[in-house]
Amino acid sequence: MSARPLPMFALLRRPVISAGFRIPKGRLTTVFPLGATVAFRTILSGKNTEEKDDRINKTIDKDVSKVVHNFNVEDLGSKVAFCRCWKSKKFPYCDGSHGLHNRMTGDNVGPLIIIKKA
Ligand code: FES
Repeated sequence: MSARPLPMFALLRRPVISAGFRIPKGRLTTVFPLGATVAFRTILSGKNTEEKDDRINKTIDKDVSKVVHNFNVEDLGSKVAFCRCWKSKKFPYCDGSHGLHNRMTGDNVGPLIIIKKA
């Protein structure tokens, strides 16, 4: 006794699309979930592509896998401002570019300011 194939696999063995792309009514319950699954996965893969475009770092040290800076506290001046918006031309130091970014986007980012006690 042979097992009866699942309806979805039975569809794959026999062509259901005839001339004029007509799908028999009885096959719609099989074809529709398959098409919906393909469409859903296509939408999800497109969303992943968009997320890659939302990277914070657009220009700084793009040739390295991780941008890291190390400073010795004793070497810092009496006051230093580090960029946290990734828009500074003097990165990792703040050059005020966050102001334009905030005006253009409605964001509220600003620098990390370290002040050495006298
Ligand atoms: S320029 Fe980026 S925080 Fe000021």
